[in-house]
Amino acid sequence: MVFRSATLAGMLKPIEISTGVDTRAIPTVIAAKLAAMRLRIEAFQDCWDQHHAAQFVAADYELVYQTLAWVSETQASIGRRFVEWGCGFATVACLADALGWNAYAIEAHADLISEARKTIADWPAKVDLFAGNFLPPGADDLAADPTLPSLGHGGQSAYGAWETDLDDFSLVYSYPWPGEDEFHEDVFDRYAAVGAMLLMFVGPNEMRLMRKVKA
Ligand SMILES: C[S@@+](CC[C@H](N)C(=O)[O-])C[C@H]1O[C@@H](n2cnc3c(N)ncnc32)[C@H](O)[C@@H]1O
Repeated sequence: MVFRSATLAGMLKPIEISTGVDTRAIPTVIAAKLAAMRLRIEAFQDCWDQHHAAQFVAADYELVYQTLAWVSETQASIGRRFVEWGCGFATVACLADALGWNAYAIEAHADLISEARKTIADWPAKVDLFAGNFLPPGADDLAADPTLPSLGHGGQSAYGAWETDLDDFSLVYSYPWPGEDEFHEDVFDRYAAVGAMLLMFVGPNEMRLMRKVKA
């Protein structure tokens, strides 16, 4: 299903995720890749103090895969472009590629960019990876709290470098730190296209999906 987007003013409409989503079968090849990712991530985190990548916490990738597969199968999309905000190891971007999305990923931390490059090469997956900031220029002013973890990353904004805008993406995925989910929603609400979807991992066993609709 595909429908065209118009950009600008909108509001976010929650989409109820099927209650049985966490019982969906995960293909053996995906399950094996996710098991290998878990080992790599654990090894990285065992020496996290060497990397100072304290902002990286891994989502529940099995649940993210199950939800992403459900979204891909059941939800109308304005296009096929997917972006992972703050990708860490880029696991979710690789899952999106496996599900047929044109996957992009953005990460601020240099050590995590190295890990993401390795994931993409080993998988192998087609993911456009950018070392920099997922926030569009000017988005910081939406934050009520200046200490939110997504703020203060000095890198270049990805969209200018890609010669694109956030409203060129049909599906955004993020795993916000506790307390910054509303900020991610506000950024998406301001900059995404009408019709685009935001999928968030918001804690153990909890995914949230919403679509920007005309106000
Ligand atoms: C909670 S982790 C989530 C990692 C991965 N997306 C996942 O679902 O497992 C958040 C990641 O976002 C990165 N990050 C935070 N703010 C960022 C920003 N403004 N631009 C780019 N990366 C950012 C952090 O370095 C960290 O790797």
